[in-house]
Amino acid sequence: MKSCRIKPVLNQIESHLYFNNQKLNLFCQKLNIPLMAFHPIGETRVKRDDRHLRDDPQLSKLASQLETSPVKLLLRFHIERGIIPIPKSSNSIHIRENFEALSMQPLGEEVMNKLLSFDCNLRFYSHKWIAKLSKFYPFNDEV
Ligand SMILES: NC(=O)c1ccc[n+]([C@@H]2O[C@H](COP(=O)([O-])OP(=O)(O)OC[C@H]3O[C@@H](n4cnc5c(N)ncnc54)[C@H](OP(=O)(O)O)[C@@H]3O)[C@@H](O)[C@H]2O)c1
Repeated sequence: MKSCRIKPVLNQIESHLYFNNQKLNLFCQKLNIPLMAFHPIGETRVKRDDRHLRDDPQLSKLASQLETSPVKLLLRFHIERGIIPIPKSSNSIHIRENFEALSMQPLGEEVMNKLLSFDCNLRFYSHKWIAKLSKFYPFNDEV
């Protein structure tokens, strides 16, 4: 921030269950800079052990215990951390489902802690191309 002439009005970052970026989230909250998540529900590439995030068995188990869907849980996870999710879909059923995450009951601390514990530092979006544009690269990223 010391090198900023203009305070960012919003920071769009990669954030999903396997790379929740929570440390950056807490830092930006202190500075009053809203975060927006891309890959909020795992895009098509976000996988662990060759299984897509949306098909994670632990996530499915938690979703069925809460009588909701894995995707709604993924979206609610961002909303309750104060991160704006921007899921992309070309399927009207999915779009409706995604909007439903806005009106869900709060998940509560225990569930949120479980969701936070899925993090395994799996970043899928490299910022290497920015190196050509910015003298500040690699921004002291931790991963
Ligand atoms: N600023 C940047 O550098 C940057 C970088 C990447 C992305 N973005 C933006 O971030 C937004 C998020 O897109 P993303 O590509 O990162 O991926 P995402 O929203 O995490 O995932 C999109 C994928 O999820 C599927 N999907 C959506 N809703 C679903 C549901 N309810 N159930 C099951 N599958 C569902 C979509 O398929 P269907 O179409 O079949 O539903 C699509 O394959 C986009 O608006 C994108 O433009 C920005």
